[in-house]
Amino acid sequence: MTRCVEAVFLTSTPEELAAQYDKWSSSYEDDLLGHAGPAEAVEQFVSFVPRTARILDAGCGTGMVGQLLAEHGYEQIEGLDLSTGMLQEAQKKGCYRAFYQQALGEPLDFSDNSFDAVVVVGVFVMAHARSHSFDELIRITKPGGHIIFTLRPEFYSNTDFKPKMDALVAEERWRLVHVTEPFHGRFQAHPEVNLQVWVYTVNT
Ligand SMILES: C[S@@+](CC[C@H](N)C(=O)[O-])C[C@H]1O[C@@H](n2cnc3c(N)ncnc32)[C@H](O)[C@@H]1O
Repeated sequence: MTRCVEAVFLTSTPEELAAQYDKWSSSYEDDLLGHAGPAEAVEQFVSFVPRTARILDAGCGTGMVGQLLAEHGYEQIEGLDLSTGMLQEAQKKGCYRAFYQQALGEPLDFSDNSFDAVVVVGVFVMAHARSHSFDELIRITKPGGHIIFTLRPEFYSNTDFKPKMDALVAEERWRLVHVTEPFHGRFQAHPEVNLQVWVYTVNT
């Protein structure tokens, strides 16, 4: 596992990252079995988002988040990812009604105000999606809708994520409704990793 995890963090272009995830897709879930991100994010999600919501699982990977959302009764779940290999794995879950091979950080091919909620788990990390991805996620989320995502506490503090997230509050484009305390990520190869779940509401 360590080799695959390290490989994705060492990529320098979206194409390289997609190729690494394509290679990792068939063993990804075995390697990351029991990690806490999807379950903790979904636990927050159910507190804020009604079951009728149209949802985008952005960076859906193999579909672990979608599967948990479906178990909670959500039916309108759509998946977006950079990697076709990961999307093919997610398709096997049978809980997504549409898939999109697109990249966060680039213009997204959705109309304004398309989704009631966007969930992003394990994607705002080193060498993955950048903080300016939030601009497009806000654009495609309906006013009053939610954007819910995981971040490592030190990644939030030591990168441009904190200033970007604060700037979006100052610009009144979204407001923070909840952030969890740090919790253990339960990554076997990286026991030092903690995570937090952030919940924002998009302003009108
Ligand atoms: C660590 S996995 C997390 C997958 C899933 N959300 C989960 O929690 O199991 C990160 C996923 O994000 C995707 N990804 C990375 N950067 C991306 C980007 N800029 N746009 C879209 N997807 C991206 C990868 O292809 C991979 O499937």
